[in-house]
Amino acid sequence: MTSGTAFAARAALSATVLALTGLFVSAGHAHAEPLPPDSDLVVSARAISMELGGTLKARLEAALKEGGPQAALGVCKTAAPEIAAQVSERFGGTVGRTALKVRNPKNAPDAFETDVLKRFVEEASAGADVTKLEHAEIFEADGVRTFRYMKAIPMAAAPCAVCHGQAVAPDLMQSIRDLYPEDQATGFSPGDIRGAFTILKPLP
Ligand code: HEC
Repeated sequence: MTSGTAFAARAALSATVLALTGLFVSAGHAHAEPLPPDSDLVVSARAISMELGGTLKARLEAALKEGGPQAALGVCKTAAPEIAAQVSERFGGTVGRTALKVRNPKNAPDAFETDVLKRFVEEASAGADVTKLEHAEIFEADGVRTFRYMKAIPMAAAPCAVCHGQAVAPDLMQSIRDLYPEDQATGFSPGDIRGAFTILKPLP
């Protein structure tokens, strides 16, 4: 990546932070304070997101190799929430995944996550590097402080397209619909934003 692109991505990110902060400052007793990308909380949130992503990807790739997409689907259904729960416990907060179009309705975004996801999509279409898009803030409402962090998850050709791409095999699509009747998470192309890691951590 050139430094020009890095600068553009950073500028886009600051714009995101500012716009979202504006939203919350005006919301009664609530207040959001953006965090710099090199603060300890943000660095650890970024690391735990990458760890969750890396662990899931390794499990998926192993399952795909061993039993093919049908078997991997089952692994994903049980392993994804399990791995997220383990990582959450270690982080002392809630670490999960969300998206504007979800497969599992349990991963559906709340209003805040929807705003950030939409902003990520705008930044990406304006040329920002999807692998760098993140949002971090300390949100305070009625004296309770919470760290909130999101990091975009880019869609990749392998291994993601098998189950989220434009041409999911018909028999696999049927199994997906059986497990997730409300599935919305197909039709993505490499480079799209598939979703985001999302973290909440209560602060003392
Ligand atoms: C074998 C099929 C399969 C492959 C390959 C796969 N996924 Fe998924 N994906 C799933 C299933 C099943 C779920 C729902 C998991 C659950 O129930 O929480 C899911 C959920 C997700 C979610 C959470 C939001 C939602 O839609 O519920 C994201 C984000 C996601 N996948 C991204 C990816 C990315 C990025 C890749 C490539 C690295 C990938 N997936 C590869 C099957 C797959």
